[in-house]
Amino acid sequence: MNDCIAIVPGTFDPITNGHLDIIKRACKIFDHVIVAVAINASKMPMFDFDERVELTKRVVDEEPDLSGVEVKGIKGLLVDFAKEVNAKVIVRGLRAVSDFEYELQMAFMNRRLNKEVEMVYLMPYIKYSFLSSSIVKDVFFNGGDISKFVPGVVIEAMNKKLEERRG
Ligand code: COA
Repeated sequence: MNDCIAIVPGTFDPITNGHLDIIKRACKIFDHVIVAVAINASKMPMFDFDERVELTKRVVDEEPDLSGVEVKGIKGLLVDFAKEVNAKVIVRGLRAVSDFEYELQMAFMNRRLNKEVEMVYLMPYIKYSFLSSSIVKDVFFNGGDISKFVPGVVIEAMNKKLEERRG
């Protein structure tokens, strides 16, 4: 039988411990996991595309549980990328009921675009159920401690970005 390849996609602006939790869960189920750093046309990210790919790679490389996980940047449709790498599954995290409507919309659109790919939803550890990239950025820009929510390399990158912005 062929290996089951799963993609964990996201904007990852930046990747959080909640995302990492979902990636680790996906690794327990699927033979091969690819983290796809993508473009969400409705978002204005803090980190540009290349920075997000680079930062996500660094975070994944630092995690001993994630050896073998690939990180790729994708610029087109997620389902086209899935076809290209022969992935049959797209994994997303569902934190709360409020995520459901958005995820349902994406799932139906993805299915319409490529009926060969299945969406799979995993629940994060409850302590990450309130976490989002936006809330982390909000706490950070207002001087709060984000060390429990994102890996150290993300904090370093955010500090660097803040310095750049201050000129
Ligand atoms: N832990 C913590 N946060 C989580 C989470 C978890 N387990 N699961 C979701 N989130 C948060 C994220 O932090 C993020 O927060 P934010 O909105 O404050 O930034 C939000 O929930 C979801 O963002 P993210 O997980 O980064 O993904 P996204 O919803 O921006 O991703 C894409 C959407 C990239 C998958 C989608 O736009 C896409 O597929 N793009 C490629 C082009 C394409 O195919 N478009 C058609 C799609 S139908």
